[in-house]
Amino acid sequence: METPELIKDGKRLDGRALDGLRPIRIMAGVLKEAEGSAFVEWGGNKVICGIYGPRECIPKHDASPYKSLLKCRYTMSPFASLEEHGRSGPNRRSTEISKVIREAFDSVVMSGEFPKTQIDIYVDVLQAEGGTRIAAIAAAAVALANAGIPMKDMISGVAVGKIGGQLAVDLGKAEDNLGESDMPIAFTHRGKEIVFLQMDGKLTPEELSRNIDAAMEASDKVYALQAEALRKSYDSEGGQELEM
Ligand code: CDP
Repeated sequence: METPELIKDGKRLDGRALDGLRPIRIMAGVLKEAEGSAFVEWGGNKVICGIYGPRECIPKHDASPYKSLLKCRYTMSPFASLEEHGRSGPNRRSTEISKVIREAFDSVVMSGEFPKTQIDIYVDVLQAEGGTRIAAIAAAAVALANAGIPMKDMISGVAVGKIGGQLAVDLGKAEDNLGESDMPIAFTHRGKEIVFLQMDGKLTPEELSRNIDAAMEASDKVYALQAEALRKSYDSEGGQELEM
């Protein structure tokens, strides 16, 4: 199969500019039974997150007398993409993504306030189109806030990278798979600290630095949508009807 040209006349396959984000929609408080929840539609990605806890730590011997244990389970549904169809359950990729998402939130959740408990972050990818781990982080941050879990700062991110020789923001699936580099990154909003960073492919140190700047700017836009979703959920007393 011939590789499609990822950039033509300065535009990307879906017509976006190099620094353009895909359309993003975020809703908070969409699940009745979870303590906090969020739904994120990000381009062709659809991700839902439910939070449970702080609740009793199981198994009990894992419990810490000093803090709550943060746990994360990211899964991709068997119908999330053509590649996934017919399969489900944990695999190497989902185990890795669950771990790195948990580590990102470990740096902001004030777990010291809830000793001997655990907090569960469940993220299900219903539909995938590149950048699901970043959409999952956006959803988890909103869902944790919706659950009333205290956090030192909000987390927002985006996948940046290099496609057709140029740096680009918010890579879609073809760009992620066929481009030269893919770099999902997430920051704390106020502190502007990097709490999540992964990279595939090659970038020069100068490109890396430019990508970080572009990602920070894009993440601020994602933050504005997260904050707006939370504001709307307060107006509707914590819950919103899920519109998919
Ligand atoms: O989703 P994200 O970009 O965070 O992770 P990735 O492993 O770089 O995957 C890029 C994209 O490839 C995903 O968003 C999916 O669209 C697709 N993919 C898939 O459909 N099934 C997989 N097992 C892995 C990737």
